[in-house]
Amino acid sequence: MKIETDWSLQETARRRDTYYAASQRKFVPFAEPMVFKKGAMQYLWDEAGRKYTDLLGMNVCISVGHSHPDVVEAATAQARELTHCTTMFYHPVPAHFAEELAATLPKGADGDIEWVAHFTNSGSEAVDLALAMARTYTGNLDLLALRNGYHGPTSAAQSVTGIAAFRHPGLPGNVAFVAEPNQYRGVFGSGTAPYLDEIDRTIATATTGRLAGIIVEPVQGYGGIVEMPPGYLAGAAERVRAAGGLYIADEVQAGFGRTGDHMWGFEVGDAVPDIVVMAKGIGNGFPLGAVLARKQIAEPMADKFMFHTYGANPTSCAAGRAVLKVLARDRMQANARDVGGALLERLRDLQQKHPQIGDVRGRGLMLAIELVKDRKTREPDPETTMAVFENCREAGLILSKSGPYRSVLRMVPPLCLSMADVDQVADGLDHAFRSLNS
Ligand SMILES: Cc1ncc(COP(=O)(O)O)c(C=O)c1O
Repeated sequence: MKIETDWSLQETARRRDTYYAASQRKFVPFAEPMVFKKGAMQYLWDEAGRKYTDLLGMNVCISVGHSHPDVVEAATAQARELTHCTTMFYHPVPAHFAEELAATLPKGADGDIEWVAHFTNSGSEAVDLALAMARTYTGNLDLLALRNGYHGPTSAAQSVTGIAAFRHPGLPGNVAFVAEPNQYRGVFGSGTAPYLDEIDRTIATATTGRLAGIIVEPVQGYGGIVEMPPGYLAGAAERVRAAGGLYIADEVQAGFGRTGDHMWGFEVGDAVPDIVVMAKGIGNGFPLGAVLARKQIAEPMADKFMFHTYGANPTSCAAGRAVLKVLARDRMQANARDVGGALLERLRDLQQKHPQIGDVRGRGLMLAIELVKDRKTREPDPETTMAVFENCREAGLILSKSGPYRSVLRMVPPLCLSMADVDQVADGLDHAFRSLNS
């Protein structure tokens, strides 16, 4: 059966404007809309056949490459056989995937950490579940979260999201926010200690003193690629554990080898989390999320139902299994490290040339440049960021505007970005800055 689709930009825009609710219509980054028709690895093509390099990775969902043949093949084979199987019946594909994901996580200094998985449909559902698990296990309600952190649109995930633009009225409470340890423009300047002191102060003043946990992105994504400085993750985990809480790592953006040196962003620090939240890159575009928790922490949830309809969907899990295979076979984590390192160098060169670039940061293929009106005052420059972003589109580059002031250009491409792409990206960005005054 052939189902007709009208691919024209004009008609697609008209249909969206007419039939999408305001809540879904708002998310349009460019001045003029775009339609994408095709993707292959790190590249995209619009409906008119123009090619772009996707530095956004379709919002960090594309880990191993657009329409990666191995992932498509695995999912298609599974969908042909049985597209969905509710979790109440047993299916080997999600069971294998749970085992394979558990094997990617550290066993701890004593080698005795046992990891178990609960699959969800999305990252925010996984965040909600992680918070419920922490509250159930500890018997405490209070959570710490970081300002500038993003954890998703569901109510509980929003309640720990520290960016006003993503928060809606009526969110659950019992969340206290601590200042994010932003080394470029953090409220306490650079260093780790002042931000750990802030955790102590916040526990002492804004909570009951007994915590369910802290949720933290090892590298803040929508917050504008803010890395946790050395010692922060372990220091935060130590303080939260002393108050009875758990350490929850949100790896939705930083996970699956993106940061280059490690499979998981938290591995940059010494502390092993109690709960790890995964999504996006886990399915390379197939909808999927997961909570991996230490077995004893997940166990008290056995008393009640927690049923995500498509949670352990075998088609998405088949895609996920293929993602893990491709990551390992094609050494994509190492590629992220090497290609990301080369791109970082080029971004630093651009910083020398263009005074609008206040900061260059990130690791692996999780990079950003932050634009400022003045390097001394570090006043954010969202207008120039918007202009560079539009110029990049003209140069065939898709980036993302991020950060609390929309003044950060975030680069989170598929992990197959190549050394040859680095030149095109750096030259395109250079051109985008040089075109500002023309
Ligand atoms: C760090 C982080 N956590 C959680 C989420 C929520 O994931 P989802 O959009 O799949 O619900 C996101 C989504 O952007 C994210 O970036």
